[in-house]
Order: sequence, then C-alpha cells, then structure tokens
Amino acid sequence: MADRIVEIASLSDADAISALFTRSYSQLLKDDYAPDVLARAMPFLSFAKPELMSSCSYYLVKETGKRVIAAGGWTAVRPGTSEKSVQPGLAHVRHFAVDPEFTRQGLGKVLFDRCVHDAKVAHAATRFECYSTLSARRFYEKLGFEIIGTFEAPFASDFTFPSLHMVCEL
Ligand SMILES: CC(C)(COP(=O)(O)OP(=O)(O)OC[C@H]1O[C@@H](n2cnc3c(N)ncnc32)[C@H](O)[C@@H]1OP(=O)(O)O)[C@@H](O)C(=O)NCCC(=O)NCCS
Repeated sequence: MADRIVEIASLSDADAISALFTRSYSQLLKDDYAPDVLARAMPFLSFAKPELMSSCSYYLVKETGKRVIAAGGWTAVRPGTSEKSVQPGLAHVRHFAVDPEFTRQGLGKVLFDRCVHDAKVAHAATRFECYSTLSARRFYEKLGFEIIGTFEAPFASDFTFPSLHMVCEL
C-alpha cells in the first residue's frame, strides 16, 4: 500500500473507473447474486455517474501510474435523490469498488478513511450511511457500520437490486 496515492477523480477518469466497476462487480458479487440478477444489474453497477466523477468527493487509486485499481467516494446528497435530501451531519458512501486482483490490501479502508476525513471537514459529518451490496457487508461491518434494514435499489421500473442499508456513527 505504501506507494498508492489517493487522487480526486475527474470526469476524464470515467471510462477507466467504469472498466474497474465491470472487473470488480462482475467477479466479486458472484457468490451472493444469481447469474441472471447480476447480468441484469451490471449495466447499472458499471456506470460511472458523471455528477459523481466531477463531485470532487470521489476518489481513485492507480496501479503505479497505470490502470485504476480502486475507487469510492461520498456525497451529502442521498443516492438517487436531489439536494433537498441533504441532512446536516449525514454523509453517504458512493460506489466503492476494488479490482479483484487488489482486494484485502487495505485499499477500500484507505478510501473510506479519506471519505471520513473530507466529509468531516466539508460537511461536519457525524454519521455515514450506505446502500451496500450483499457482498460488501463484512467490509462495512469492519469499518463500523451496522445494518438497519434491507434495501431494494431501484435500478429500473421492473428491476430492483437486493442491498443492505447500513449506518456508521463517526
Ligand atoms: C467491498 C470492497 C470495496 C472491499 O475492498 P478491499 O480493498 O478489499 O477492503 P480492505 O482490504 O480495505 O478490507 C478492510 C477490512 O474489511 C474486511 N473485509 C473486506 N473484504 C472482506 C471480505 N470479502 N470478507 C470478509 N471481510 C472483508 C476485512 O476485515 C478487511 O481487513 P483484513 O483484510 O485485514 O482482514 C471490495 O471487496 C469490492 O470492491 N467489492 C465488490 C464491489 C462492492 O460490493 N462494492 C461495495 C458497493 S456498496
């Protein structure tokens, strides 16, 4: 981890981050979702949202100057809602993914630590929420999150994606 630098993502990173999402989600969710569910979800899971890429609170790690191997961030806006949803002190985890070749090396934790630091400074955050994949549950629990319910992520009018609603008091 010593040579890994966390950078703020920009719109020009969108294609590389989308490629990371494809590698990560297609491999690391296989044990927890049926193949047809995962296949239907992949276009949504692998889409790098432009507003997130340009938010200045979305971060990435590159493999020594090359491909993007980890990404994740936070927003004050709840995913899928508008600015009206912003609550004082509450931050939301956004679109974490680590390359399958680089998991369990602390990259996800490094990115979350950066989120916590920046959300405290910019938004006086005291609490984080996330909509976790079933596969990332133990990662978030290790970071201090607790499950407060299940969540069906509304990917399309006829398709929802089983997720967990989790919360972490800072
Ligand atoms: C979830 C994810 C981001 C974790 O990234 P990571 O870089 O591997 O996580 P870290 O190495 O920082 O893990 C920190 C700690 O979390 C726990 N943890 C992480 N992944 C775990 C797993 N698969 N099973 C059990 N515990 C896990 C461990 O305690 C780990 O510490 P340790 O390795 O010293 O035991 C990564 O597995 C991933 O991209 N998953 C697929 C995409 C996804 O589901 N993203 C979440 C979107 S909500």
